[in-house]
Order: sequence, then structure tokens, then C-alpha cells
Amino acid sequence: MIYNNLKKQDSAVYKAMQGELKRQQEGMELIASENYVSEAVLEALGSVFTNKYSEGYPSHRYYGGQEFTDIAETLAIDRAKKLFGAEHVNVQPHSGAPANMIAYSAVLKPGDTVLGMDLSHGGHLTHGHPVTLSAQIYNFIRYKTDKSGKIDYKELEKMAVKHKPKLILAGFSAYTRQLDYKKFQAIAKKVGAISMFDIAHIAGLIAGKALLNPVPYFDIVTTTTHKTLRGPRGGMIMCKKEFAKAIDKSAFPGFQGGPHMNNVAAKAVAFGEALKPSFKTYAKQILKNAKVLETELKKHGFKLMFGGTDNHMVLVDIFGSKGVTGKEAEEALDKIGITLNKNMIPDDPRSPFDPSGVRIGVPAITTRGMKEKEIRIISKWIKDAIENHKDEKFLKKLHQEVIKLCKRFPIYKNIK
Ligand SMILES: Cc1ncc(COP(=O)(O)O)c(C=O)c1O
Repeated sequence: MIYNNLKKQDSAVYKAMQGELKRQQEGMELIASENYVSEAVLEALGSVFTNKYSEGYPSHRYYGGQEFTDIAETLAIDRAKKLFGAEHVNVQPHSGAPANMIAYSAVLKPGDTVLGMDLSHGGHLTHGHPVTLSAQIYNFIRYKTDKSGKIDYKELEKMAVKHKPKLILAGFSAYTRQLDYKKFQAIAKKVGAISMFDIAHIAGLIAGKALLNPVPYFDIVTTTTHKTLRGPRGGMIMCKKEFAKAIDKSAFPGFQGGPHMNNVAAKAVAFGEALKPSFKTYAKQILKNAKVLETELKKHGFKLMFGGTDNHMVLVDIFGSKGVTGKEAEEALDKIGITLNKNMIPDDPRSPFDPSGVRIGVPAITTRGMKEKEIRIISKWIKDAIENHKDEKFLKKLHQEVIKLCKRFPIYKNIK
């Protein structure tokens, strides 16, 4: 893609875009929720579909001229169904947070009780954190992990019996362990609750068959499409047939207006990519890389929350391991071109602005083609940067090493 028009017409935006391109090409992206989409996905995102209003659903729209938008949306739906074995799919949610809100309002009335995972134990803001709108509308009760770092299903069952939630919610953005779908489903069934799983982080691992598919077990499954699934920034909802009408109505006209059709088309392209055998290899490599990261970081004296990882990321107690705060670690690593995020650890005594932990994920560098050998090098760099976080000269030298490695695994060769 050569952005000649943009370059000529709007040099300010073009310059910012070039800066971001270089940052992505020369930086080591370890934010667990980020990835690099293909150039084909970028082309769909930048397509004429952005001009079109398509309120409604394929064959049932409120505007004319839908012969091609219907093709794109139907492709996205059919491919998602094939990837996840879903009975019903809605590809219109603009992102993960709206997807969750749409799902809640499809099945809940204001004041209804929901059981969701606590943020500091790896859950997500949209699962009932008091700062969110959903927490003002619904009565969220939050469960936690036990001392061993696993979800305590007995405790969860007790809470479900006590609070009688209408909805039991699984899903996480920093929890690194595999969920027991059957146990979860059994608890929901016992108390007559609807079961929902937000698979935003692990959708690509499920699509690539590296993790067990939860879709058959849960009534509703929400996701983002831009993390391990490696699609455009967006959301998606899958559900059993009995919830299909309520979900669709809740998305439109309940919560959103016209779907972003360029985004829907890009989802179709990304799902097409995820259906290819090479995506299975990618998903498996993510798990392998994350395991090496776990082993190496432990070897370097880091304490991993939840005891390790079964997915694409680790949550590290940096403060407990090295006496360096999450914020200090994030800043030191930024200086060497390694991007990750500071993160709360379970029941963190520190503030969310300077917590005890950092979250480290491998989906983006795995897309670049990095494997076990590179993960070992990166793990050592993380240790060295954190242990020498005040030594500017040392960090500067390390930064050159990071750039050198990134250049060996290029991205977006055709974008100028
Ligand atoms: C589990 C989970 N759900 C929902 C979201 C929200 O997605 P978005 O940022 O696309 O609104 C995230 C984002 O990090 C997430 O991790």
C-alpha cells in the first residue's frame, strides 16, 4: 500500500502514520492484546465499504444498495460459524466492550445480578468494575482465584447458590489458565443462570484449535476480533439459537446504529485467514512461545501469577520478584523498544497506576515469525532491563539489539 494521496494532502497525519509504522516495525510488541493484521485486512479496512449505511442485517436492511454489503457480512458470519461451530453469529459489534454491553442488555433487566471475575484476578473492566456503566445498571458480584491461582469452582458454586445470578460470566484479560467449561456450565445450570464467556483474548487460540472450543458449552460467547484472532479492531457475539433474536435486536437497534461495513468486510477477510491450516500452526506456536517465556522468566527469578500459563500470556509479579514497580518496568522496557503493560496482580496492594505486575504476551511477535530461540533472548533482555532500569547507557545499548532483532523479522514490507 502506498499512501500517495495522504502524503500529498495531509502531511501531518501521514507523518504520524509513518512514525507509527516505524514504531511497529522496529519495536518488540509484547502487549498481550495486540497483533499485526495482514495487508489484505488493512485493504478491506481502507475500502469503499466505509461509505455505506447498512442498518439491519443481510436481506433485512433499512437502506437500499445492499447487494455487496450483504455478501461481505454473510461471508463474515458463515466463516465465523465454521471457525467456532456457532449456531448464531452477530459480527456488527464495534468492539469488545460494546459486544459485552449488547449481550448484557439482550438477556438482563436493570438490577439483575451477574457473577463475573474480579479485575485484579484477571477479569476485565467490562465484567462489572464499578467505574463502568454496566456496573451502574446491573448488580455485579465478582469472584476471585484461590491461593494456587486457579478459579475455585466450589466457591463459585457457593456464590452462585447464594446470589442466584441471572448470568454467570467467564472471561479474562490477564488470567493465564484454562477454564473448566464443563464445571462452569454445570454451575450455571444448577442455579438456572445463563452462561456467558468473553473469549476476547483467546479467540485466535480457539479458532486455531490450540485451545478447546467453549462455544458448544456456553449460551453466549463474546469476543474481540483484533487480539489473537488477528483481525480488525472489532467485536463479535456468538450464541445458541434461542438467544439469536434478542442478541440481534440488542445490537441494532438497541445499542448501535449502522454497522461499520469496512470493518465487517475486514472481519470476513481475517476469518478466511483463520480458516487456513497456517493459522493452526500460528496458534500452536503462540502456546509454545508462551511456555518458553514462562520457563525462562522463572529461571531469571520472576514470580509468575497463577503459577504459569496455559495461553498466550504471563502475568508477572515484578515488584515481588525484583523490587521494581510495574510502572518502572514498563518505562524501562519502553526505553529498549519492548512494549508491554503494567498490570494489577490479584489483590494488588499497589495502585492501578503503579501496580506490582506486568502482563507479557506473545501473539504479535509470533505473527512476525519469532520462535523459541528468540523468546529466550527476549526473556533475558527483560531481566537485564529491569535489573538495570536506572542505567540509561545500558538501556540505550540494549535498544539497538532489540531493533536489530526486529529487523530480522520484518512486517509490512509493502507499506510506504
Ligand atoms: C476480555 C476482554 N473483553 C473485552 C475487552 C474490550 O474490548 P475493546 O477494547 O475492543 O472494547 C477486552 C479488551 O482488552 C478484553 O480483554
